[in-house]
Amino acid sequence: LKIGGAAAGGGHHGAADYPDPFHFDEEYRELIATEFSSLTPENQLKWDHLRPAPGEYDFADADAIVEFAEQNDQVVRGHTLFWHSQNPEWVENGDFTPEELREILHDHITTVVERYAGRIDQWEVANEIFHEDGTLRMEDNIWLRELGTDIIADAFHWAHEADPDALLFFNDYNVEGINAKTDGYYALITDLLEQGVPVHGFGLQSHLGTMYGYDPSLPDNLARFGDLGLKTAITELDVRMDLTGGEPTPEMIEEQNEFFAFVLESCLAEASCDSFTLWGASDKYSWVPVTFEGEGSATPWTDDLERKPAYYAMYDIL
Ligand code: XIL
Repeated sequence: LKIGGAAAGGGHHGAADYPDPFHFDEEYRELIATEFSSLTPENQLKWDHLRPAPGEYDFADADAIVEFAEQNDQVVRGHTLFWHSQNPEWVENGDFTPEELREILHDHITTVVERYAGRIDQWEVANEIFHEDGTLRMEDNIWLRELGTDIIADAFHWAHEADPDALLFFNDYNVEGINAKTDGYYALITDLLEQGVPVHGFGLQSHLGTMYGYDPSLPDNLARFGDLGLKTAITELDVRMDLTGGEPTPEMIEEQNEFFAFVLESCLAEASCDSFTLWGASDKYSWVPVTFEGEGSATPWTDDLERKPAYYAMYDIL
């Protein structure tokens, strides 16, 4: 099993920018170099980071992470090529015909996947394309809205042509259990596989919260996607807590340990599950407090980069 971490946040959230510790925090770099066998750039392969302007690519930040991973004998998971979020203004508000948009997407997927061929061996091609009710997000995903559902198969074909050895995934949140959303994915992927579309994996982000509980059908859900012949992966695990009452209580910490252990055990027990990635390796740089007001303490390392009980809850299983 490859154990991964999101390599450094740094991002734009609404108006707030927050820094990317990968560039300045030596202690954090040391942590991600030594604790993981896989890295996922948390933002650096997204459109808003790679694509300053039409026809232009800026690979500097992504290259730095891929080189870092190679120096540390780590694999890299590519995140992501086709998403409704973190697209640059010139894409979202551009005045393109559908033909032009299709060519922009084709060029992007080809250029990015070819660049890292042999170095990034798994791609989350399509991210978050379903609503909770199991219908496709046609309205807020520009590619689906403008180009229709067939563009999903095209995206996988283009990625496959650019690197025939890369494993190509769908990825989403709230897809841990068997529910309407995962039924939607199951039906779509079954259909794509029948058409010969190169889909190889299903990624479960797993952004959990102790106050929300977890879905005990996770093992069965992993198994049903595994039975389709896919790989499965835990891609962005964190377990946030409600901190409006102050520091986490011992009960909350115990609960969090249980959540991390449950997801890891479910992955270890399922043959198709070949990677397990945490979204952020320290509370210090976690996206959670920035995104969800009053919530936090979601990773297994403290603000001081010390290991928390959640770390040992997983370590004991491994
Ligand atoms: C988040 C990053 O962690 C933040 O730094 C960024 O500001 C917004 O995106 N699902 C995903 C990830 O697929 O790309 C998101 O990452 C978290 C939710």
